[in-house]
Amino acid sequence: MKKAILTLALAAALPLGAQQKPVYLDETKPLEQRVEDALKRMTLQEKLKVIHAQSKFSSAGVPRLGIHEVWTDDGPHGVRPEVLWDEWDQAGWTNDSCVAFPALTCLAATWNPEMSLLYGKSVGEEARFREKDVLLGPGVNIYRTPLNGRNFEYMGEDPYLSSRMVVPYIQGLQSNGVAACVKHYALNNHEVNRHNTNVIVDDRALYEIYLPAFKAAVQEGKAWAIMSSYNLYEGHHVGQNKRLLDDILRGEWKFDGVVISDWGGVHNTDQAIAHGIDMEFGSWTDGLSNGASNAYDNYYLANPYLQRIKEGKVGTKELDDKVRRVLRLMFRTSMNSKKPFGSMCSEAHYEAARRIGQEGIVLLKNEGNVLPIDLNKVKKIAVVGENAIKMMTVGGGSSSLKVQREISPLDGIKARVAGKAEVVYARGYVGDATGEYNGVVTGQNLKDDRTPEQLIAEAVEVAKGADVVIFIGGLNKSAGQDCEDSDRAGLNLSYGQDNVIAALAEANKNLVVVNISGNAIAMPWVDDVPAIVQDWYIGSEAGPALAGILMGDVNPSGRLPFTFPVALEDVPAHKLGEYTGERTRDTVNIKYNESIFVGYRWADKQKKVKPLFPFGHGLTYTTFEYGKPTADAKTMTADGKLTVTVAVTNTGSREGQEVVQLYIADKKSTLPRPVKELKGFQKVKLAPGETKQVSFTIEKDALSYFDDQKHEWVAEPGKFEAIIAASAADIKGKVPFELK
Ligand code: GLC
Repeated sequence: MKKAILTLALAAALPLGAQQKPVYLDETKPLEQRVEDALKRMTLQEKLKVIHAQSKFSSAGVPRLGIHEVWTDDGPHGVRPEVLWDEWDQAGWTNDSCVAFPALTCLAATWNPEMSLLYGKSVGEEARFREKDVLLGPGVNIYRTPLNGRNFEYMGEDPYLSSRMVVPYIQGLQSNGVAACVKHYALNNHEVNRHNTNVIVDDRALYEIYLPAFKAAVQEGKAWAIMSSYNLYEGHHVGQNKRLLDDILRGEWKFDGVVISDWGGVHNTDQAIAHGIDMEFGSWTDGLSNGASNAYDNYYLANPYLQRIKEGKVGTKELDDKVRRVLRLMFRTSMNSKKPFGSMCSEAHYEAARRIGQEGIVLLKNEGNVLPIDLNKVKKIAVVGENAIKMMTVGGGSSSLKVQREISPLDGIKARVAGKAEVVYARGYVGDATGEYNGVVTGQNLKDDRTPEQLIAEAVEVAKGADVVIFIGGLNKSAGQDCEDSDRAGLNLSYGQDNVIAALAEANKNLVVVNISGNAIAMPWVDDVPAIVQDWYIGSEAGPALAGILMGDVNPSGRLPFTFPVALEDVPAHKLGEYTGERTRDTVNIKYNESIFVGYRWADKQKKVKPLFPFGHGLTYTTFEYGKPTADAKTMTADGKLTVTVAVTNTGSREGQEVVQLYIADKKSTLPRPVKELKGFQKVKLAPGETKQVSFTIEKDALSYFDDQKHEWVAEPGKFEAIIAASAADIKGKVPFELK
């Protein structure tokens, strides 16, 4: 009794405001209750303010209620430096240099979801430390053409690989109280005419190829935000598209987060009101340049919206729905007092960047024992090529960064072999000497007026005198290479690199070609070069990561997340169309004529088309042997499971990691299906001589295809095969089974 009186007395003594927290501020209350409580306290003006930008990268809070603003920032590979309130140019802060993590193509190439979790957690710590509530990434658009300027920001050609690799990234990132904003939903598969391309694609390809990674991001990753893409689908810009935003994202997938427009992706007030966009950013900009002063009150979802409400043309139901979703985002991020504090430029982040890079580098070819370089024998190393020295963390569009450091491949190699071998460098070719993006400069002076002949002569001279030659070239982050808002003009390397490689192959047979790119390239010299490495934009730790692989400190374990075609006409987007590189201001209808036959699905279908290097391919410095795969049953019921097991042995002399891949083949189906489709993979570490049993449990989902007539996923009874493989072209064994 006494206690109760005391409590009452205390309560009475406290000023009213301190007595009980309003529900929306009480983190012990259920999220939805807090959302409703906040919503009912907000005025009409306050509701309109939170659904569009107030600056380049932020949207308003509700100061009166103590509800914070929402701060977003790019991008998928690291946290972009601060820009001015209403400009793209640098704010000139001196505390916003970050760690650049590897491009997401490299992350996908690790085929290791643990690397995704490490990546998301690390980049999330940097974003949290920088007080960001939303990181504008990761991107999971499917590689439909190797010319797409932004493929380096995505996770390859296969929906299953992208799905498995994007989920842990989101979980790791959001564990910091920072929202992932998975982009660009959907069908933004090339960059030329990205604002006015109207994609025409059948539902089978939409559901089987282009949507799965976004669906996994929402349903498994529990992403708190999705970014709608610039392009049109079925004649409507995706940023205000009923089918994609209302029917599929919210209707079918039950997405409860916010849809943030791409910068300049909203074009019409009525459409934006009616369909599921929640936060309008960057209107009247192309996400890169124009629209310096955006006049935020004139945004489509600002005064024009208020006007329609005042004139009674629209109610406030849609507005309340949008504000609910924005409040949900706020309580998960900016208003979340439980989130950790993050960290920046920590050794742990550099270590993570290096590890992910080293797990993603792909050894494409290794004959003549050039690799790994044996420093007991090799005393002089020639390094040739602009990409050995060129900073790659600046440029490429919105994923461009201002790093605390970036160790170049040349510096990485020099540091690694110091005291053991001499390193001589030659430029080999001059590619892109500029080094600036949005006011961030590399500080490098890559200017070189020598002629190609002079450059090649010098490189050959240097090569002749060396025990091993490492050519480091590929693409870069300038327009027309791997860069936003532009596509490449063709599959071949630029700047005369093929001639340099041919000359080097002549001069010294111990040649390694290292291709730094986010896309496939043509290799006319492939038969003349004994060792080829697919390196990626690895970021701050580019040098140490590559050097560790080349010198054999780390056994390469990356596998290609996309097919390397021999030529462009081997790619269905170009063979069947449609893809157009010509810029125009009109709406461009692009039909995805290949439908579901993207990447290896196409290569398998075209018996005579052999890829240069297949999807899933990657060598190591050891060898693996596979036993005969077996299944624990011959038949499977629709609600049943079937387990396939295969023994994998390391038959080499050093530890290595093998990526065991499971493809499923439907031997007979009512609708056309690919020969096989990736439905499982496991990366296993094996000591020399060690054998591991690798098992995959197959369920009905892995057998299903999307029937666009019935509008549902269908697993048809009949004969199937579980195919165990080390790449899409290296089949190790098949196990037949039947679905009853
Ligand atoms: C850009 C990009 C998008 C980026 C946004 C903000 O145009 O398309 O990926 O996050 O605008 O920079």
